[in-house]
Amino acid sequence: MRILLLCLSLLVRAAAADREDRFGGGVLLPLRTVQAASPPQAPANRLRFRHDVSLTVSVAVGTPPQNVTMVLDTGSELSWLLCNGTTSAPAEFNASASSTYGAAVRCPSPECRWRGRDLPSPPFCAAPPSNSCLVSLSYADASSADGVLAADTFLLGAAPPPVPALFGCVTSYYSATGTINSSEPATTGLLGMNRGVLSFVTQTNTRRFAYCIAPGDGPGLLVLGGDVPLALAPPLNYTPLVEISQPLPYFDRVAYSVELEGIRVGATLLPIPKSVLAPDHTGAGQTMVDSGTQFTFLLADAYAALKAAFASRARAVLPSLDEPGFVFQGAFDACFRAAEGQVAAASRLLPEVGIVLRGAEVAVAGEKLLYRVPGERRGEGGAEAVWCLTFGNSDMAGMSAYVIGHHHQQNVWVEYDLQKARVGFAPARCDLATRRLG
Ligand SMILES: *[C@@H]1O[C@H](CO)[C@@H](O)[C@H](O)[C@H]1NC(C)=O
Ligand SMILES: *[C@@H]1O[C@H](CO)[C@@H](O)[C@H](O)[C@H]1NC(C)=O
Ligand SMILES: *[C@@H]1O[C@H](CO)[C@@H](O)[C@H](O)[C@H]1NC(C)=O
Ligand SMILES: *[C@@H]1O[C@H](CO)[C@@H](O)[C@H](O)[C@H]1NC(C)=O
Repeated sequence: MRILLLCLSLLVRAAAADREDRFGGGVLLPLRTVQAASPPQAPANRLRFRHDVSLTVSVAVGTPPQNVTMVLDTGSELSWLLCNGTTSAPAEFNASASSTYGAAVRCPSPECRWRGRDLPSPPFCAAPPSNSCLVSLSYADASSADGVLAADTFLLGAAPPPVPALFGCVTSYYSATGTINSSEPATTGLLGMNRGVLSFVTQTNTRRFAYCIAPGDGPGLLVLGGDVPLALAPPLNYTPLVEISQPLPYFDRVAYSVELEGIRVGATLLPIPKSVLAPDHTGAGQTMVDSGTQFTFLLADAYAALKAAFASRARAVLPSLDEPGFVFQGAFDACFRAAEGQVAAASRLLPEVGIVLRGAEVAVAGEKLLYRVPGERRGEGGAEAVWCLTFGNSDMAGMSAYVIGHHHQQNVWVEYDLQKARVGFAPARCDLATRRLG
């Protein structure tokens, strides 16, 4: 979700266009896992909610097309691009060089605000003479971006015609870790894929999309429109999307929200009360499937139950870190210390953790359970690394939701079926699927 709070608005163009699925025939795109270029600058135990690893797709924007790399984010609404030389990063979008670039909404007008009605905070018209519909985005890690609501054409994959879409053309960007490092943004922007009116999915009336994320930095696949190729996937298990009839303050109605039934460690379903797993009367406690967040987050009570059960099972094969106060990215404190080789062997003996949803399950096993904290070494000659369980504590990260992040979606086909209001999962070998489709 990247906890994106944006404000902006948009153009009537997409709504006025025919409502046919723009990618009805199915478009295949390579999906890449990108590591942020720079290592964390603050000590790891003080880092908050950084996005070290993202899923990205290549998109051609404007006329003539400019190649940009965008983070695929099913937890965000508005797509955005770094524009007009905001940073010295290569591959920014140059609006001046595109003949199809334009302002999305005329200002002053109520349309600017109305178009952004699904966003957490409303967009607004700048004072004359600029008369732009301004969007501003902020992340949980205190990074922020400001820009204008703009329109241009987007080309995904080789075959289809470019589609017009609104996005935030970002002209000022503040990184939480200080001034932006010109070599840092490995990506030029973000493709907003949630269910809000301004998301790329809604604007292009995409009724279905799916992806398969390969582990490591191997290429995965994104299928927009069309079916998951049957030859590549076993039948998917589906879980219904949760809809609520009344808005609630802490419930994100445009997220891909699903029903969490439990957390399993090995064969044992943890004794977590149902009330802890479901949203409360404020909407806090929903469960989202999110390609824009790296790891998985659980509310404090569920996290504590998992941490205790996992640690007691892991103790036999991995030494615990035992450094009170050590927290990775502000939310991960179930940590271990061991040499790389020891972890490779131990990970086969660790219990599988299941995120049990109504009608489907996301199973996490082996090396996906642990993440090596960058830059942390222990033991003589730094022989040991620090590893943390890839589930974090939502409350410690300042979130009030369960989030299933992309690390746990590796080697799984994940299908977002908006037509039937459901999300499907099936285990897969994503590297093989990618290879077979060329
Ligand atoms: C920017 O990132 C590069 C690559 O990680 C690094 O070598 C360089 O020192 C960084 N520059 C600053 C000013 O932080
Ligand atoms: C953009 O990418 C396409 C496909 O990889 C390539 O053919 C084209 O030359 C690139 N265009 C530019 C301007 O780099
Ligand atoms: C980027 O530059 C173009 C051309 O100068 C201009 O029309 C556009 O408003 C600029 N975009 C932003 C967001 O400032
Ligand atoms: C953007 O494109 C314009 C028009 O082609 C060009 O004059 C300008 O130098 C470009 N800006 C950057 C930062 O590349």
